[in-house]
Amino acid sequence: MTPYGAMRTHGAGTLRASDDGTAVTLAGWVDRRRDHGGVAFLDVRDRTGIVQVVADPESNAALQVAHDVRNEYVVAVHGTVRLRPSGMVNERLGTGEVEVAASRVEILAPAETPPFPIDDRVEADEITRLRHRYLDLRRTPVARALRMRSQATAVIREVMEAHGFIDVETPLLTRSTPEGARDFLVPSRMRPGAFYALPQSPQLFKQLLMVAGVERYYQIARCFRDEDFRADRQPEFTQLDLEASFIDEADIYTLVEDLLTTIWSRVLDVKLDPPFPRMPYAEAMARYGSDKPDLRFGMELCDLRDVFAGTDVGVFAGALDADGTVVGLCLPGGGQLTRKQFDGWVDFARSRGAKGLAWAVVNDDATLRSPLAKFMSDDETSALLTATGAEPGDAIFFGAGAVGATRQLMGALRLALARDHDLIADDRWEFCWITEPPVFEWNDDERRWDSVHHPFTAPTDEALETMEQTPGQTTARAYDIVLNGTEIGGGSIRINRTDVQQRVFALLGIDEQTAAERFGFLLDAFAYGAPPHGGIAFGLDRLVMLLAGEDSIRDVIAFPKTQTGADAMTGAPSSIDADQLRTLGLRTRQPR
Ligand code: AMO
Ligand code: AMP
Repeated sequence: MTPYGAMRTHGAGTLRASDDGTAVTLAGWVDRRRDHGGVAFLDVRDRTGIVQVVADPESNAALQVAHDVRNEYVVAVHGTVRLRPSGMVNERLGTGEVEVAASRVEILAPAETPPFPIDDRVEADEITRLRHRYLDLRRTPVARALRMRSQATAVIREVMEAHGFIDVETPLLTRSTPEGARDFLVPSRMRPGAFYALPQSPQLFKQLLMVAGVERYYQIARCFRDEDFRADRQPEFTQLDLEASFIDEADIYTLVEDLLTTIWSRVLDVKLDPPFPRMPYAEAMARYGSDKPDLRFGMELCDLRDVFAGTDVGVFAGALDADGTVVGLCLPGGGQLTRKQFDGWVDFARSRGAKGLAWAVVNDDATLRSPLAKFMSDDETSALLTATGAEPGDAIFFGAGAVGATRQLMGALRLALARDHDLIADDRWEFCWITEPPVFEWNDDERRWDSVHHPFTAPTDEALETMEQTPGQTTARAYDIVLNGTEIGGGSIRINRTDVQQRVFALLGIDEQTAAERFGFLLDAFAYGAPPHGGIAFGLDRLVMLLAGEDSIRDVIAFPKTQTGADAMTGAPSSIDADQLRTLGLRTRQPR
């Protein structure tokens, strides 16, 4: 195929001053038309960019057609590249030094006025954009994100193949995968009343491929999870999924670091500096109040249990007596905040379930201005300043209460304060591994232990010994990779010993019969020689969102779903007709 197709000689966005005098044929959409009667300008846009076309009386035929053309018409232009008159150069366009003098303009397809301008500078309502996504995709940022995504997947395939991984497709019509979300179900016609589940991930199949001796598997896999909507979640999303045998954590770390370094270098021309820092989960929670810390700024949480061991501050003493904690957070320059702003942050804490939030401002003489100041001794104050590193003019926030909840609250406050005060360096790429998370988390509603990751994640050797006595303290051979505060991937070394798997199932309250029903096929396979194995999966949409500098994964998915899981363009999900229902052996109840 010719580079621009048989109908064209050049891409609109490729023309430069060195093309002066070249005869060209372009084709694309009219980005904008300015008609001055005696002369008309058409900005012609194709996938390579935009160039200005001029139709003037020297070629009357071209001018006549240009008068009829409207925005978003598809046109072909025959003409000659020429330098723009000095003073008319457009610095913002790659093609800004030239224009094309049209000798002939052809209308290939007319267009109605689009429901929103195809112009990145004009805001348009998201639902309208999604309903006409094919028009939205003509806009530069979305088109750029799609191209970046394709570049990233090309690099991924190259790196994975170079490391000996093979791409294997796994089924979409399958059984429930234990990733903790709700399943999307597909009714079976052949077995009325029976349902396939769409995979939440290829987890079970990739482990079966390890039993099968594939040793190194990867797939760019579509996953389905019926969970609540967020900016970084879609009901249908894509993973770069991989699994390998006879490896340990270090193999995964170096492979992933190679992969990400290559993507960043090739797509963004940015040089990353592996190895990425590794931080145990417990440390991340203590220092940042989050298992996905944003390391683009400091403001670490400060444990003030020792400082306030003998405190007269009622809420602090109460928390410490109940085996809780007091966590401090210093906001540099926070002394400027008004009383009303402090009250706003107290409301922020309350809206997240905290009983309150205390604060203090450090005066020039290192005393404190705070509602609590009168309850703090001089020794406490100076110990506090040492512990938090707060300087005159800074503010310190205090959260008191149960350890886990207070750290999380203060972690959320850390992020919100930093955003509000513009303390996050947005030109940095801060990757980190979060290692050894807990295997189990207590589900208070259902009064049982749940898997933090999934039930096939191996506990660490040390933790195995005391797993039944202290399930909550069992650490996992698992790892998440975090970039700028977003979890972009997670995985683990798997259990490959039946006795360990049974102990984990027992703690999760999965009895033998349930285990056999839900993943009997995997357990059966393990009886035939399962190699030690492990892997990881990346959220490809999240990765590309960050690469492209976007705020939502919707911006890097060609046809995303709306907040309610609907496709604004096709109208899915939609009801089906009575015949289809009958064939499937289904009956729907009218919503009450
Ligand atoms: P996990 O459930 O952590 O692990 O998923 C891996 C990564 O997938 C991304 N992700 C999502 N992205 C967009 N929308 C969603 N709804 C969504 N849910 C998850 C996240 C996450 O880090 N089978 C295991 C992996 C393994 O153990 O190898 C798994 O799926 O970026
Ligand atoms: P109270 O005793 O509820 O009047 O609170 C006294 C001060 O402590 C107020 O400034 C509250 O906002 C603050 N406070 C209350 N509960 C907490 C808490 N759990 N952590 C930190 N500060 C709190």
